[in-house]
Order: sequence, then structure tokens, then C-alpha cells
Amino acid sequence: MNIDDILAAASVIPVLEIPTIESAAPLAKALSAGGLRVVELTLRTDCALKAVSVMQDAAPDLIIGMGTIRTADDIKAACDVGSSFVVSPGASLTLLDALVASGAPSLPGVATASEAMTAFDAGFVAMKFFPAEPAGGISYLKSLAGPLPDIVFCPTGGISAEKAPNYLVLPNVACVGGSWIAPKAAIEAGDWAKIEANARNAAQL
Ligand code: 3PG
Repeated sequence: MNIDDILAAASVIPVLEIPTIESAAPLAKALSAGGLRVVELTLRTDCALKAVSVMQDAAPDLIIGMGTIRTADDIKAACDVGSSFVVSPGASLTLLDALVASGAPSLPGVATASEAMTAFDAGFVAMKFFPAEPAGGISYLKSLAGPLPDIVFCPTGGISAEKAPNYLVLPNVACVGGSWIAPKAAIEAGDWAKIEANARNAAQL
């Protein structure tokens, strides 16, 4: 799968922080049961790498990407455990080079026109726009669409169920991401019914 195939499978990508390996399987099942296909599992907890295969086994239809990728080592670690794509919060030139060299489907993170142009020059057409709301949100993305009409964004950061539809109608938005579908508190509480319900709502956007 290339990044276009992956983005075509998702309007909403839940951004996940897995606190314990025990939560990986039920979380994956809840998101899949709710109708979501693509997830970003952040590399922010000790069990994140191990969780990829556990989630994949629990929900084989999920397309699992690894987020919070900052270095070439992170890319390798994510690919070694079977991540289908990688996502970064920002993109240094070093990281852009490493993403290209890896050949992994990637969403490099950008927050400005200059960063988007730098990533585009490196060969990327789809990017994570992060942190979406603090960086200017919908009005900023509308402003980018004129001069950068050939770049598509996956805005993430501060987006809620209420705000998501207003992003999704923008012509330069491929999908939106966020933690609202599976909030940390709900994962820690094992509230899989709530997460499944959130996923179902998100899948209908
Ligand atoms: C991310 O890593 O993409 C963000 O932290 C998710 O942002 P949110 O928690 O504001 O949705």
C-alpha cells in the first residue's frame, strides 16, 4: 500500500497512546468494530512497538501506522514491527531524507508553508498538518490551498468530533486525525464501548 491508498481508506485517523500492552487488543477490536480502518499508534510509550503486532492480530483489517517518528532509528523500529506507514510531528531535513530512504509510506509533519514546500521538494505530496488548531486551523489550510494546491494535509492536534467535519470539506484535506476517538482516560478505564461508539461516529464523517 502507498500513502494514497492508506489515506483513501480513512476520513478520520485515531491517534493512539497505548499505556499497557493489555489494552492493545481490545482497543484495536473496538476501533475496527466501530468501522475505522486506519490508526496512528504513537511511539510515546514503552509498549508501543510491541503493540503493533498485537493490534494487527486482534484486528487484521486495521492499517496501523506508527506516529511520533523523529529519527531514522524510529523509522526502522516502526517498519521492523510491521507498521504500514509512519507519521512525524515535524520534519527536519535529516528526517525527510531518512523517510525517503526508507521507502515507507509516510506523512511528514508540517505547520507552515515553508515546511510544506520543503517536504514537497523532498518528494512528499501528503503531509500531517500539526498542531492543526494552534497552528491556524481551518483558515490557515484555506490560505495554503491557493499557493500550494497540489499538497494534501491530514490535520491533527486539537481537533474534536465537532470540528472534524469543517476540516473534511476543505479540498486540501485528505483526512483528519486526533485522540478524541480513543482518549487516554477511556483507554485506561477500559471503556471499549465508548471508544467503539466514538469510532462509529467518526467513521460516518
Ligand atoms: C498527535 O500526536 O497527532 C496529537 O497529539 C493528537 O492531537 P490531539 O490529542 O489534540 O487530538
